[in-house]
Amino acid sequence: MAHSNPEELTAFVIEQMQKIKEPREREIFTSLVKHLHAFVSEVHLSEAEFHKACGLIARLGQQCTPSHNEVVLMAGSLGVSSLVCLTNNGDQGKRPTTANLMGPFWRQNSPIMKSGESIVRSATPGEPVWVRVCVKDLNSKVVPNARVDVWHSSTEGLYENQDPKQAQMNLRGTFITDEEGRFEFETIKPSGYPIPINGLVGDLLKILGRHNNRPAHIHFMIFKEGYKTQFSQVYSSDDPVLDTDVQFGVTKALIGHYVRNEKLLLPSHPQGVAGWNLDFEFQIEAGAAYLPNPPVTEKKEL
Ligand SMILES: [Fe+2]
Repeated sequence: MAHSNPEELTAFVIEQMQKIKEPREREIFTSLVKHLHAFVSEVHLSEAEFHKACGLIARLGQQCTPSHNEVVLMAGSLGVSSLVCLTNNGDQGKRPTTANLMGPFWRQNSPIMKSGESIVRSATPGEPVWVRVCVKDLNSKVVPNARVDVWHSSTEGLYENQDPKQAQMNLRGTFITDEEGRFEFETIKPSGYPIPINGLVGDLLKILGRHNNRPAHIHFMIFKEGYKTQFSQVYSSDDPVLDTDVQFGVTKALIGHYVRNEKLLLPSHPQGVAGWNLDFEFQIEAGAAYLPNPPVTEKKEL
């Protein structure tokens, strides 16, 4: 059909979307077209702005490497990752959820660990922490045999995949919950870190006038058949940027409280050492388990 004005064009494109056979795809594409067209009309996007936008989207992809994912970083910086999480967990805000955004640094296949082992694999400065985790379902019933991936950055603010000085899979590990839904591990107390700003996300933050820091956190991914896979992050209550997280990730339910312990007994320090305890309980929901494609697959080499 030849169209002669914006309304006719939009109506025609939406009509074409109705030919999509699979209902969910049809719903998504129809809505996508509606909102994209409404956005162009609302801001009266100029041709020059449109060409620039196409270039920016292409560059987002070009700035991805096996050890860096600018697309995921951008989704977080626009609050989209958190919105997707809150839309799909906690009954849309009716109850607290321990789910959180995945972030751009999850790697698959970190080493399987025994409860009580340390995930510090190469000399890493920082104060020791003993983390105790419990996984329950929404009825407060413990969940045994769940696979839990753990990962966090060094106190220099870098994940091992970003930092050739760290050992492969440093500060990463995979644990299995015991009959009481629990596991424990030793690590170092994480500090907050700046997200990379040498790409398009950096340009965005400059426009927004926002800092590029994330509050200190430890990531978790809980996987068990019969339950919705849960990505989570536990944030440090004492972090100065808790309220201004560049990735909009912090929720009240995910603020963890580190308790000072002047004589922490650890496998690496059986005589005791000054450090911290962190206890945290996750609730996972019944549903379909799945694993997304990991946002990064390799470690940056020297
Ligand atoms: Fe992180």
